[in-house]
Amino acid sequence: AMSAADEAYVPDMGRRQALNLILVSFTGVTVLGLAIPYVALFVPKHAEGGRSGSVVARDALGQEVTSEGWLATHLPGSRELVEGMKGDATYLIVDKDELHGKAIRDLGIVAVCTHMGCVVPWNAAENKFICPCHASQYDANGRVVRGPAPLSLALSHVDTGSGKVLLRPWTETDFRTGEAPWW
Ligand code: FES
Repeated sequence: AMSAADEAYVPDMGRRQALNLILVSFTGVTVLGLAIPYVALFVPKHAEGGRSGSVVARDALGQEVTSEGWLATHLPGSRELVEGMKGDATYLIVDKDELHGKAIRDLGIVAVCTHMGCVVPWNAAENKFICPCHASQYDANGRVVRGPAPLSLALSHVDTGSGKVLLRPWTETDFRTGEAPWW
C-alpha cells in the first residue's frame, strides 16, 4: 500500500511533468517566434524573380527608382543610397554624360562595411566613404584604403535600359583588385 508520503509525491510528479511540458512548449513557441523574423532577414523583400536575379532599386519610401526620377533630383558626382539586392543599402552614382548631361553609372556600391556591417556614409568633402563605427575608409569606388575593414565594398551592376533602375549581381572580376569577387 502507498504511504501518505508516496500519495503526496505522485500527483506532485504529474504536476511537474505538466509544468515541464508547458515550459518546453513555451520555449518552442519562443524559438519559433524568434526564428521566423530571423529567417525573414535573409529573404529578399522585393525580389523580382527576374532573370539573373536582378531587383528594382527602391528609394527611402520603398518606391521603385526610375532613371528619369533619380536624375531629376541628383547631380553629377552624387552617391546616394537605394535599397538593393538582399535589401542592402546600395549607392547609385551619377556621372557627367556628354550626351545627356548626366547618367547613372552602370555600377553600384554596396554600403555595408566589410568590417562589421555598418552602413558607410559617403563623405563628399573627403571624397571617401568613411565608416562611423570603427573609421574604416574606402575610396570613391569603394576600394578599402584604411582598416580595420578587410575588404573593399561589394559591387553590383546597375541597368537603366528599361527606365527602372535594376540592380544585378556582380560576378565578374573585381576591377579594383583584379580578383574574383569575395561577395
Ligand atoms: Fe565599419 Fe567597423 S563596421 S569600421
